[in-house]
Order: sequence, then C-alpha cells, then structure tokens
Amino acid sequence: MAMLAPSVLSANFAHLEQDCRDALEGGAKLLHYDVMDGHFVPNISFGIPVLKSIHKAMPDAFFDVHLMITDPIDYVHAFADAGASLINFHVESNSDAQKTLDAIKAEGCKTGMTIKPATPAEEVFPYLDQLDLVLVMSVEPGFGGQKFMADMLDKVRALAAERERRGLNFLIEIDGGINEHTGAQATAAGVDILVAGSTAFAVPDVKAACQTLSNL
Ligand code: DX5
Ligand code: ZN
Repeated sequence: MAMLAPSVLSANFAHLEQDCRDALEGGAKLLHYDVMDGHFVPNISFGIPVLKSIHKAMPDAFFDVHLMITDPIDYVHAFADAGASLINFHVESNSDAQKTLDAIKAEGCKTGMTIKPATPAEEVFPYLDQLDLVLVMSVEPGFGGQKFMADMLDKVRALAAERERRGLNFLIEIDGGINEHTGAQATAAGVDILVAGSTAFAVPDVKAACQTLSNL
C-alpha cells in the first residue's frame, strides 16, 4: 500500500483549509503543494503566502512542496520558512543540484529531486544517498488532469533496483494522472507515495476519494 499525497492544486481555493482537512481525515499522509512560475512550466499556481496560511492553519500536516520553477535555490529559504516539510526540485532546473540540496538540508527540510518524463532516472543517481525522496513525473509538469504515462514505471523500477543495490532508504513518489487504476499499477511497480490532484480534490466527496486512493 502506498501513501497518498493529494495535490492541493486541484482543491477548491475558496475552502482550501476544509479540503485539506477532509483529505487528511480520508487518510492522506502528506499534502502535495505544486508551485509553478510560468517560466519553468507554462502555468502559474500559487507560492509562499498561501503555504504560510495553510501551514498556520494546520501546523501538524506534512507539506511536500514541489517546485516547478526555474531557480529553486533562490526560494528554498522562503518555502522552508513558510512551512515546507520536504522540498522537491527539478534536476532540469537552472540551479546547481548539490548547492540546492545543501540549502534544503541547511533549512532542516527533507530533500526531494524530481525528474520530468524525458529525463532518465540515472540523472539523480549521483544524489540518491542524500535524498529522502525521488519524484517521478508521470505527466509533463504544468497542469492537473492529464493522462498517466505508464512507461514512467520503468523509471520507478530502476530507482527501486538501485535503492536495493546500494542499501538506501529514499522514497519513490509518482505525480500525474493517478486514479484507482493507475495508482494500483504504480504501487505494484514499487511506488511509495502517490500524488493525486483531480481524483482526490475535484470530486464531490474529498474524504471518500482519499480513503479509496489511500488503500491502493
Ligand atoms: C502537475 C503537478 C501535479 C498535478 C497532478 O504539474 O505536478 O501534482 O497537480 O494532478 P492530476 O492528479 O490531476 O494529474
Ligand atoms: Zn506535483
């Protein structure tokens, strides 16, 4: 069974706190927070002040922050300060990967590196011993509601094999197009954390949807 990280991107922002509470009551273990800058990806979502508000309302929740931004290193401190528990940044971003990891660790946050669909899993291999999590994108980052790319599961298997080979402990997370069917496929391939946006929040009953997705 994988842990569920509902993506706040698909929540109703008019009642964000209630949606997040319903998701956690439904069994979600983390809240996935998608930050988009309109530059690294062709969309803009939300940023530091919104995280600060939800963190203040729910100080015990685990905030898994996914930075889809060109220069993540410049914003590590601000997101950590706003309440990020873990900071995920893209290996394809402009920031130096080692310096960004050092900055995240210096803030006391957990570390995550993310790979886009066209990026081989091997790109993060040099950093695996410093990572708490690797995030495999199963859609092109930028928008919720896209179709799951099943061939990304090969990268999940490669990461799981490398983790085993080196005796490491990082978690493998997958993001994009997760529903009951694709979530079960991902779990079978070795995924530890399922991110789900539209199937967790863009539904009539958030708690019930999260209960279902938490049991995959
Ligand atoms: C995509 C984001 C995802 C997205 C997932 O750029 O990183 O977290 O919200 O949404 P669904 O689950 O609808 O594909
Ligand atoms: Zn995401």
